[in-house]
Amino acid sequence: MRLGLRLILSLVVGITLVTYFISRSQVRSEKEGLRSDLERRAEVFAESLQEIVQPAFDHDSRAELRRIVNRFENRQRLAGVAVYDSQGSVLAESATLEDRVTPPPVPFDRLKQDQGFGEFFHRDGKAVHVYYLPLHKDGSVEGALAIFDDASYIEAQSKSIWRETIWHVIAQVLLVVFVTLLIVRWTVVLPMSRMSQWIKDLRSGKAHPRVKLPKDDFLAPFSEEVVNLARSLHEARAAAAEEARLRETGESLWTPERLRVSLQSKLHGSLFVVSNREPYVHTQRGKNIEVSVPASGLVTALEPVLCACNGTWIAFGSGDADRATVGEHDRLRVPPDKPEYTLRRVWLTKEEEQGYYYGFSNEGLWPLCHIAHTRPIFRVSDWQSYQDANRKFANVVLEEMEGSEQALVLVQDYHFALLPRMIKDARPDVRVAIFWHIPWPNPEAFGICPWQRELLDGLLGADLVAFHTQAHCNNFLETVDAALESRVEWEHFSVKRRDHVTYVRPFPISVDFREAQLEPAFLGPSPYDLRASLLKAHGVRASFLGVGVDRVDYTKGIIERFRAVERFLEKWPSYVGRFTFVQIGAPSRTTIPRYHDLLSEVESEAARINARFAKNGSWKPMILLTRHHSHEEILPYYRAADLCMVTSLHDGMNLVAKEFVAARDDEEGALILSRFTGATRELRDALVVNPYDTEQLADAIRMALEMDAEERQSRMRRMRQIVKEHNVYRWAGSLITELSEIRIDEREPEVAKAHSYGNV
Ligand code: G6P
Repeated sequence: MRLGLRLILSLVVGITLVTYFISRSQVRSEKEGLRSDLERRAEVFAESLQEIVQPAFDHDSRAELRRIVNRFENRQRLAGVAVYDSQGSVLAESATLEDRVTPPPVPFDRLKQDQGFGEFFHRDGKAVHVYYLPLHKDGSVEGALAIFDDASYIEAQSKSIWRETIWHVIAQVLLVVFVTLLIVRWTVVLPMSRMSQWIKDLRSGKAHPRVKLPKDDFLAPFSEEVVNLARSLHEARAAAAEEARLRETGESLWTPERLRVSLQSKLHGSLFVVSNREPYVHTQRGKNIEVSVPASGLVTALEPVLCACNGTWIAFGSGDADRATVGEHDRLRVPPDKPEYTLRRVWLTKEEEQGYYYGFSNEGLWPLCHIAHTRPIFRVSDWQSYQDANRKFANVVLEEMEGSEQALVLVQDYHFALLPRMIKDARPDVRVAIFWHIPWPNPEAFGICPWQRELLDGLLGADLVAFHTQAHCNNFLETVDAALESRVEWEHFSVKRRDHVTYVRPFPISVDFREAQLEPAFLGPSPYDLRASLLKAHGVRASFLGVGVDRVDYTKGIIERFRAVERFLEKWPSYVGRFTFVQIGAPSRTTIPRYHDLLSEVESEAARINARFAKNGSWKPMILLTRHHSHEEILPYYRAADLCMVTSLHDGMNLVAKEFVAARDDEEGALILSRFTGATRELRDALVVNPYDTEQLADAIRMALEMDAEERQSRMRRMRQIVKEHNVYRWAGSLITELSEIRIDEREPEVAKAHSYGNV
């Protein structure tokens, strides 16, 4: 039977049964009410009549009795009145009584009890009620007064209730069936048929997996799964096509598949990644737990690597619902919608977090390594917390590595300078690399740190210390040379200290550049429409759009960028009313006063510039969005912008620049890039600027907007080629290959390490 018919039948039966039972009890109580009402009225009437009948009865005056009974001939619903003697013979009765009912014999047995009573009976198909009252002579019951009422109206009333019920049932059934079918059509049939059409299109390659399927109703879990499935299918198909294309053209691009295969041959054990920032943060929002991906270049880069080789990522559990979402041993599988690797969370107390993360890492090392004119702060207590936290993480890493041989450990960033030594001391058999995601300054600048020796010693515990650029490697080696007793081998870019050799290499980090991940530009709205709709959402109309995406950090040159926009509008007023700059600024490390102040400074600068130029309600030069945006939310801005500004005062690499380039598969858009970023070494086709030079920055904005289309496209094409070839898979592939090729022989360190690095 079809679903529709089944549904209708069930509704008809259900509604009928419910209404039947409700109506039955309604009829019953209605009937009872009417009957007792009739009984009561008959009793009252009989008692009042008795008072005038009794004297006539006493005198045996039949004529008087007849006159009395006939007086009530026309009383409503009265069928008649009769007076009987003790033999049950009629002494007097209403003239029309016999025409209306045939009275039953008088029940003298009951009357002897000297009590009035009533009863219902049926005669000639009619319902009648009779009420008897005893009549007395000399104190004993010698006759009866009977009041006959027509009770058929009670039955008629019940029938009419039943008739109404049937109409109600019919109306309800029709209405409920209609509404239900409508709801089913809207919420099930239409979405399902849209979904199946989309799956058909997907199979035939006409549709893209990033589609909006029903999300807010009971189909949500189902559509989520379908979308995931479709995405995997699409990615697998795109990966296969890409592999085939690469084979065909002889190109040697790194893909997730190639990384997986390469790691399988190189990795003889498991891969462990350690970072402070975790890739997924769980947060309590009311009764729900939400998961988000934090704003971190490091997270952007490492996730695809972990996915490709099913490793373990050890990180600080910073979300307030993180504990509620881990399983045994504080582990969970991620990404949440397509688990591919393990996240192991490490817990820190508020004090530990304060000292190690906010204090030593971000008030000390961060400004120490970034030449951005913010003075580093070094406190003994922070240094103590830093050591303790490094020890805590080292213990977790060692615990995770228990039983695993030939493991590779990739330690991430300035939060863990001491970790390599701690791990290697306990497990000399594992290969350890540390990747320093931020710049390394010159020896004089680094020498400000009171614990520079301890930090360098911790780092040199690693087999490989990696930076984004050769310049950072050189600075590091010079710092080691100046601060520690060790042998720096410039020829091999290595350091020998206490019989252990550490190699120092540049590996420029990158992004996951895969065209298959993007909805092709031709399927989506044009950049022009996209721009209009993005700006409209902020109540702005403008012909040109610039975008900046950063954590709100003093190293990012956000204020410098805003001043450049202001200067640009000053210099070329024809752009007033036509150019708007959107700054997406994720608040960051806001408990540190410098960051907290910066956030307000950025907000007031944007407000000041808006107040200066905004003339009418539908345009303003600056839109500042100070909240964390997901990659999916940022993507439309990248794709709609005429230009993207990266104006860091100092930056290890800067992945925003590469993300912007990766997003522009239409080969449009210009990149303005600070010369103080690592990215500038690869993206030479960007408009390279000095962010301290406001005039130059303002000119770069104009140049980006007025550049000849052909030049703009060829610059973007070349940058895309570079990011495509030097993608994050290549970064991970080369880093891990390099690390896995370092020979470690604990028994004969001198001999082994003398030959340990063939290809330097
Ligand atoms: C830089 C660091 C990362 C860090 C990120 C975000 O990119 O190199 O290690 O994760 O900033 O900063 P946060 O302090 O929020 O992790």
